[in-house]
Amino acid sequence: MEGGAAWVAVDATDVPVGFLSGELLDGNLHIWELAVASDHQRRGIGRRLLDRAKHWAAQRNLAAVTLTTFRELPWNEPFYRSQGFATLLPGELTQTLRDVLASEIDAGLPAERRCAMRYPVPAPDAPQ
Ligand SMILES: CC(C)(COP(=O)(O)OP(=O)(O)OC[C@H]1O[C@@H](n2cnc3c(N)ncnc32)[C@H](O)[C@@H]1OP(=O)(O)O)[C@@H](O)C(=O)NCCC(=O)NCCS
Repeated sequence: MEGGAAWVAVDATDVPVGFLSGELLDGNLHIWELAVASDHQRRGIGRRLLDRAKHWAAQRNLAAVTLTTFRELPWNEPFYRSQGFATLLPGELTQTLRDVLASEIDAGLPAERRCAMRYPVPAPDAPQ
């Protein structure tokens, strides 16, 4: 592991209600998990955790944030697309991302429903 980071969202009583964990892979921040407790969803917590991760990547001049997710589920691929991520075509996958997808399929996830996505971190002086 090259290093990583995690963020936890808490409610007004300091109880954790969501988290995002990531690791440096291929020199990018790769998100392993983003989850928000079901009774706290649709309040913008997931988006805010994602914004923190993007900001962390930008502060470190990383080129991208990557992840794998389910195609088409509204809170997966379409949500990430709305946040600036693009779905990678097979020819655009790095070997590392191929390996991540392969290990998910080995663990029983349906290959045809999984995809890898990439958010290009804007250059420091680029308009957001
Ligand atoms: C994905 C997840 C983290 C989003 O967290 P959240 O706090 O609900 O996210 P937000 O409130 O910021 O909403 C983000 C957007 O996702 C989409 N979305 C989230 N939940 C949705 C649902 N149940 N149905 C349809 N769209 C949904 C919407 O576009 C939403 O924006 P909107 O509320 O302005 O329409 C949460 O749904 C979750 O934990 N899901 C289970 C685990 C998971 O799928 N993690 C991602 C794996 S890569």
